Amino acid sequence: MTRTVVLTGASSGIGRAAAREFAGRGDQLVLAARSPATLAEVRDECVAAGAEVLVVPTDVTTPDALEGLARSALAEFGRIDVWVHTAAVMAYGRFEEVPERVFDQVVRTDLLAAAAVARVALRHFRAASAGTLILTGSVLGHITAPYMSGYVAAKWGLQGLARALQQEARETPGVNVCLINPGSVDTPVYRQAANYLGRLGRPPVPITTPERVARAMADCADWPRREVSVGRLNGVMRVGFTVLPGVYDVLVGPLMRLAGVTDRPVAPYDGIVFAPNPAGEAVRGGWLPELSQVVRAVGGAGATVGSALRRRLR
Ligand SMILES: NC(=O)c1ccc[n+]([C@@H]2O[C@H](COP(=O)([O-])OP(=O)(O)OC[C@H]3O[C@@H](n4cnc5c(N)ncnc54)[C@H](OP(=O)(O)O)[C@@H]3O)[C@@H](O)[C@H]2O)c1
Repeated sequence: MTRTVVLTGASSGIGRAAAREFAGRGDQLVLAARSPATLAEVRDECVAAGAEVLVVPTDVTTPDALEGLARSALAEFGRIDVWVHTAAVMAYGRFEEVPERVFDQVVRTDLLAAAAVARVALRHFRAASAGTLILTGSVLGHITAPYMSGYVAAKWGLQGLARALQQEARETPGVNVCLINPGSVDTPVYRQAANYLGRLGRPPVPITTPERVARAMADCADWPRREVSVGRLNGVMRVGFTVLPGVYDVLVGPLMRLAGVTDRPVAPYDGIVFAPNPAGEAVRGGWLPELSQVVRAVGGAGATVGSALRRRLR
């Protein structure tokens, strides 16, 4: 059976990788985000992979927009089987230096819009007695870090919301709520974020790929699970945060300044919090070198060492 998968946040990063992954698995797709031009590019990528695709430009923070999106999906394909929600924005800065309007829009986008998606999707799934909602949390829904207070608050809220929805969904067999919690992922989100910190943010190592998170999402659609963590250090960080909170708090600030932000100075800006930036949208953020670059770099280093050794042995 061909499933219909709605993806909110499909124009960039994990959502765009998920669109490609579901397309490759033979599903028909409804792609939503704010930027129509980028969505058209993603549609072409998914059509090339063999999928039927509907594009519905949508701002998830606009009242009633999600009802309209669901109506469009049903009009085109007659059913919604899976709803993957990845849309989110970030803002860097000390809490009191991030403008209130920016903080509020981060929480509106990352928490309240996720609740709005869940409301529309779960009403539909409950009526159909079937369907899987996949929400995107973060390891920052279990731990905290400085300079990202709005994002952290929203992801903690989303964690609680997802658990409550999972408990309610037990009353309707066939309806599933999954939460995917990535660690650091190589996506454009760090450059697209609002910034009031003065230095550009970056994903701390270890960094995983959006394709890996996308595969976890598609696997969840096939075999629903309550929570899936994607990131090698997620478990260690959670244990440290929970068991040794004093030590964690001493270390997290310096570690964040060392590994979570770059030296590159940036003037204060709102990033994509209020409007999309199509030029910055892609699957990858460029924080992980491509395998071919690694091979070239290792090959180049090997050649340099080899010629140095040859010179010394002559
Ligand atoms: N990257 C990481 O390291 C990481 C780690 C943990 C969790 N996550 C989570 O993974 C999810 C995806 O993040 P990402 O890294 O892939 O980010 P991304 O590359 O910046 O993509 C964000 C997506 O959200 C959409 N979006 C933002 N505001 C929107 C709005 N108001 N209405 C509709 N769409 C909106 C964007 O499209 P438009 O701007 O065109 O609307 C874009 O498609 C997020 O929930 C994020 O919190 C990411």
